[in-house]
Amino acid sequence: MKDLDLVIPVKVARYEQLAETDRKLVDMAREATGRSYSPYSHFRVGAAILLDNGEIVTGANQENVAYPSGTCAERTSCYYAHATYPQAKFMAIAIAAKGTDGNEVANPIAPCGACRQALLEYETLAGHDVRVILTGAKELYILPSVRSLLPFAFTEF
Ligand code: THU
Repeated sequence: MKDLDLVIPVKVARYEQLAETDRKLVDMAREATGRSYSPYSHFRVGAAILLDNGEIVTGANQENVAYPSGTCAERTSCYYAHATYPQAKFMAIAIAAKGTDGNEVANPIAPCGACRQALLEYETLAGHDVRVILTGAKELYILPSVRSLLPFAFTEF
């Protein structure tokens, strides 16, 4: 028997330390929280995806009175991006959230398991790493890839 220690590489940064393109992506994810439809949780999440054609596609969580029918911001944005630009490859995604007090969360939130699996599909299609920027008011986490957020992912059958 042996141990397998998995490491998730995360860069912790402040907004001011980001490159301009990343700052724009974060700005757009933050802005997208304003388009959240979340009358049940009052938790507003926004996501912005940078594509290799230069477009940035945003999405926000869309809830439903039949709770499980709602979708997270990450899946709203990745399905919208691929349905709109089926040929484009994902380059990076930024995710932002506002808590029930209406303020941006202090510490970044991370995508749920289902969204990690959905995003991984587009990383696989892209054939390269898709950077993930998780945004908080205090600090941001930058991960090199979706895969780094989902070790032991189910990728083929
Ligand atoms: N939510 C997201 O949109 N993304 C996440 O990463 C976590 C949770 C949404 C789902 C639901 O509308 C609300 O936040 C509360 O869970």
